[in-house]
Parts: sequence; C-alpha cells; structure tokens
Amino acid sequence: MFSYRKLTFAILAATSLSCAVSAFAQGSKIEGVGRTATANEVAAWDIDVRPDFKGLPKGAGSVAMGEKVWEAQCSSCHGSFGENNTVFSALVGYTTKKDVETGRVASLMPEAATPTRTTMMKVSQLSTLWDYINRAMPWTAPKSLKPDEVYAVTAYLLNIANVVPDNFTLSDKNMAETQGKIPNRNGMMTKHAMWPGKEFGGVAKPDTQGSNCMANCATESKVASLLPEHARNAHGNLAEQTRAFGPSVGADTTKPAANSGAEVKKTVAAPAAVAKAAEKSAETVGPLKSADVSGILSKNACSACHGIDNKIVGPSFKEIVAKQGSKPDAVAYLTGKIKSGGSGVYGSMPMPAQSLSDADAKKVALWISQGAVK
Ligand code: HEC
Ligand code: HEC
Repeated sequence: MFSYRKLTFAILAATSLSCAVSAFAQGSKIEGVGRTATANEVAAWDIDVRPDFKGLPKGAGSVAMGEKVWEAQCSSCHGSFGENNTVFSALVGYTTKKDVETGRVASLMPEAATPTRTTMMKVSQLSTLWDYINRAMPWTAPKSLKPDEVYAVTAYLLNIANVVPDNFTLSDKNMAETQGKIPNRNGMMTKHAMWPGKEFGGVAKPDTQGSNCMANCATESKVASLLPEHARNAHGNLAEQTRAFGPSVGADTTKPAANSGAEVKKTVAAPAAVAKAAEKSAETVGPLKSADVSGILSKNACSACHGIDNKIVGPSFKEIVAKQGSKPDAVAYLTGKIKSGGSGVYGSMPMPAQSLSDADAKKVALWISQGAVK
C-alpha cells in the first residue's frame, strides 16, 4: 500500500545530498524512491562506442548513400564538402594520401603553419567520429540517425577526405580495418595534461573543476563584458578580412553591433506592433509571453540559434520583430519561414527547415508579431 509517511521520509533523506550519497554508497535501498532501470532503458543510454569498437551496432552504409544523407541533413551547416567554417570549424581538409600511409598528419606540424585545424586532421580514432555523429548530429536533431545512416555519412566524410574510395561501404565488420587508414591515427599523445602539464614539471589535473548547480540556478547566461562601441572598428572592417581560422566570419564593424544600443532603439518601436497585433488577433487574450512559447523553442532547439535579445547563429527574436513585426501579413509570413527556413534576409547563414507542427509554428509567429515579449 502507498505510504505517505514513508515517501516523505524518503524525500527528506534525498534532499540531504550527503545523506543520499552515503546511503547509495552503502548499497542500501531507499524504499519508495525510484526503481531498477529496465534492460531496454539501460540499452537506450548505453550507446557509447569504444576505441576497440565494442558497442558498435550492426549495420552498413555506402559512400553514395552517405552523400544523400549529408546533402539532406549536414551540408547546410558544414558545407557540401565539409569545408564550411561559419557554423563550426571545417570538418574536412588539409590531409593527404601520404598521411593515410604514415598515420601522422603533416599539416599539423608547426612548420606547416596550416591556418586551421579540421576534424579530419585531428581525429585519431574512427570510433570517436562514428560515436560523435551517432550521439550528437545533426545538431538540431541528435540521435535521429539510424545506424546505417551513421555508417554511410561517416563513409562519405572519409571519402571526401580521400581516405576511402568512391565505391566503399563502411560497416561494423570493417571499422577496425578502416581505423588503419585514419590520417592522424598515430598522432595522438596522452602524456600531456592541462598547462603547465607533466612535461613541464606541472601536475596533471582535470580540465574542469565545476560542480553541478543544485539550487537557485541561473536560467540564462549573461554577457559580463562587451567591447566598447568606440573600439569596434579599431582594426578596420573585419567583414573584409577573411579569417581562415575558427568558425567565425568577420562582422561588419563599420556598423553598430546587432545587439548594441542602436539596435535596442530600433526595437523600441515594437510596442506599436504589439498594440496592432493584439487588436488584430481575436485568437488570443492579450499578447503572448515568452513563457507561452518557451516549450516550443527549447523542444525544437530554436533557442540554440536564436536568443530573445541576442544573436546566436540566427538573428535575435527582437531583431526579427524589428524587421518583420509591423508587416500586415507578419504571422503568415513568419509561420512559413519557421517551417521552411531560408537565408539572405539577415545574412548568409542559412536557417534549416524545421519539423514542428503548423500550430506550434503559428504560435511562435504570433508571439514574434506581437513583439517577442519576455
Ligand atoms: C544546424 C547545424 C548543424 C547540422 C545540420 C549538422 N551539424 Fe555537425 N556540428 C554543428 C556544430 C555547431 C558542431 C559543434 C558542436 C559542439 O562543439 O558542441 C558540429 C560538430 C560536428 C562534428 C564534430 C567536429 C569536431 O571536430 O568536434 C562532426 C563530425 C559533425 N558535426 C558531423 C555532422 C554530420 C555527419 C551531420 C549530419 C548528419 C551534421 N554534423 C549536421 C552543426 C551542425
Ligand atoms: C541552426 C540554427 C537555427 C535554428 C535551429 C533555427 N533557426 Fe531560425 N534562423 C536561423 C538563421 C541563420 C536565420 C536567418 C536567415 C536569413 O537570413 O534569412 C533564421 C531566421 C528565422 C526567422 C526570421 C525569418 C525572416 O525571414 O524574417 C524566424 C521567425 C526564425 N528563424 C524562427 C525560428 C524558430 C521558431 C525556430 C525553431 C522552430 C528556428 N528559427 C530554428 C537559424 C536557425
């Protein structure tokens, strides 16, 4: 029978972390709290692939199939040949046939002075590449690829890096053999540690010393310091100075920053749009607030690319309000754009098509048209 007193006791015990930890450490059970995970639940979490390839699911995918997956699900961010460095550092480039033979990437050597570090230059274990794609990509829909698609897209990346031929098929059976062709397979070092590191007489310590926040945790990150406006153009217009290193193209520094005071002034015009939209919309009672749409924004990873006030990969929602909020057909226009994505309105960065429902897209569009109120 359900025992309220027992449950209260268990919760009290669990709220004192040290108490709970020592209870678990002793292997004793807290009655009424939790249950043993089922075999299926454990299997769903247990997806890691080790360097000895233990953990790989059965499957296979060809370079040709990988090219299709790549074009549909990866190229919008990484470029057709993995060369794009605007969303993240380029994945492919600067490895040679000779590297495939030696297992050491020559362009990583200091004398090569290579301006960038691509994934294919650095990665030493094929299992890492496979596992990362399997668990984390595409960025906006992690864990959505089937094993065969992961094999295929990995084969495609190896193909455009000239590691495997066009007619190659990667599978659980030949992963170990293919590991023998990874350009930087002999380039991994484990003797160093965080600066100053063991080789300079320092001690090896972990690279993070954080702790999990358990109470009153911040819900948003805040920028603590900003480049002052007068220093923005100190080095000339960065947009005209192509930077080969890192995932950033230069901003047009002859204009104020997107989220600077000048931009805020523009968005102050929004209340007119709010009033108009509220009048127009018999569908809602008063303007929507961010809390009304935050579930949709986080579930669909919109927040990974859009802040309310700050530009991330895409424009801030306030910038979208400033540009589109006062158009008479704003809701219909924005609903369409949210579903289909697009590029060229705010810059060259594309927005991938989104798979949310029409109703959810419309709700977000309505919130934006009403001023993206917090
Ligand atoms: C919406 C943009 C986007 C899409 C689409 C996307 N990626 Fe990525 N990818 C990223 C970002 C951003 C990172 C870096 C993430 C991080 O470091 O947290 C990344 C990192 C990677 C890395 C790791 C690179 C490294 O050196 O650490 C690989 C490999 C990769 N992506 C492959 C893929 C594949 C394969 C697909 C398609 C199935 C894909 N990506 C789709 C944005 C994207
Ligand atoms: C991978 C990053 C990314 C994700 C994820 C993303 N967006 Fe975007 N979004 C962009 C970029 C980049 C633009 C600018 C495109 C342009 O310049 O035309 C944009 C533009 C927009 C616009 C303005 C369109 C216009 O023409 O004015 C809206 C509205 C929008 N996004 C809403 C959303 C919503 C809602 C979601 C989630 C369902 C979402 N976005 C997910 C990157 C993203």
